[in-house]
Amino acid sequence: MRKAFAEALERAADGRELSREDLQVLLGADEQESASLFELADEVRSRFVGEDVHLRGLIEFSNYCAGNCLYCGLRKNNRRLVRYRMSPAEIRESARRAAGLGCRTIVLQSGEDGFYTAEVLADLISRLKEELDVAITLSIGDRTWAEYALLKEAGADRYLLKYETSDPCLFSALRPGTTLEERLKRIAWLKELGYQVGSGNIVGLPGQSLETLVGDILLLRGMGVEMAGIGPFIPGDRTPLGRFPPGTLEQVLKTLALARLVLPRAHLPATTATATLDARSRARALKCGANVIMPNMTPLPYRGDYRIYPGKDGLGEMPEESYAKAVRTVKSAGRRVARDFGHGYGNL
Ligand code: 5AD
Ligand code: SF4
Repeated sequence: MRKAFAEALERAADGRELSREDLQVLLGADEQESASLFELADEVRSRFVGEDVHLRGLIEFSNYCAGNCLYCGLRKNNRRLVRYRMSPAEIRESARRAAGLGCRTIVLQSGEDGFYTAEVLADLISRLKEELDVAITLSIGDRTWAEYALLKEAGADRYLLKYETSDPCLFSALRPGTTLEERLKRIAWLKELGYQVGSGNIVGLPGQSLETLVGDILLLRGMGVEMAGIGPFIPGDRTPLGRFPPGTLEQVLKTLALARLVLPRAHLPATTATATLDARSRARALKCGANVIMPNMTPLPYRGDYRIYPGKDGLGEMPEESYAKAVRTVKSAGRRVARDFGHGYGNL
């Protein structure tokens, strides 16, 4: 083990603030060093958030998107994608099914689809909250302050809005017409409005360097979010980035472990993108700092069309199978399924 690595790891173990140099050394871990980093992240996870794994039921209710992100299969220029929208009644039916299986949180996710006005979504959320004893997380992209406020008022508890990359040039190059600054402003809004906020980044994006990833971790720490989703870049065959290599599992797990070290109390999912790299990697992520799995509760007829990237994990599964698989993963990692809502406690 390199001396600088051992020293940085010791600082992390003592709960001291890691410098940019520390993060760089830790992210550059070789195989043997990685094992020590993962062990520490697992210990910190156990100490701060315990053995519970939260299962958040994911409903991908529309794959229409006004965005045109170069890495994403839902981009509006992808004319080969069959588009769908679930009706509010269908969404409610899926949510009932997810709650019946045991999900204490329902995540409503879609592309940036203005078809669902904030009023329609607010009505849906308040009905769901009335009918089911669940927390509601939204993952529907950029909206106005007034819309976020209305949705919060209706009962939404959490919001996921990733910064994707901390490099402002890369951000604008990959997400045409948008800026990192705007995105960070929205994340700040969501916090102000009282949402528990989730963010996160993609590991292995074309044009990303080790320094970018260090910047990603620093940004994550600075934001002090309650949740962070970290997953690999998966090249999409129907996107302009289809020929670039995917992010590596090792790099994802190291980034995840660092996220746990800088945000000890955060809820960190073993993401679907990570599971897409290799079926066993969800269980590995649970041992590198993760404490959340988001089983897919999207009904089968739509599931294949929520094609953010190819080869997505769980494509042919019914919601029941996805849920059972998540429970098995939790057990195989020697952990237990949480029964409470798993609200964040902040990172202050
Ligand atoms: N690889 C990995 N993650 C992706 N996302 C979009 N496209 C890809 C891809 N090719 C993720 C982004 C975004 C969410 C919709 O999916 O992080 O927040
Ligand atoms: Fe749309 Fe989000 Fe995909 Fe961008 S990443 S194209 S905003 S779904």
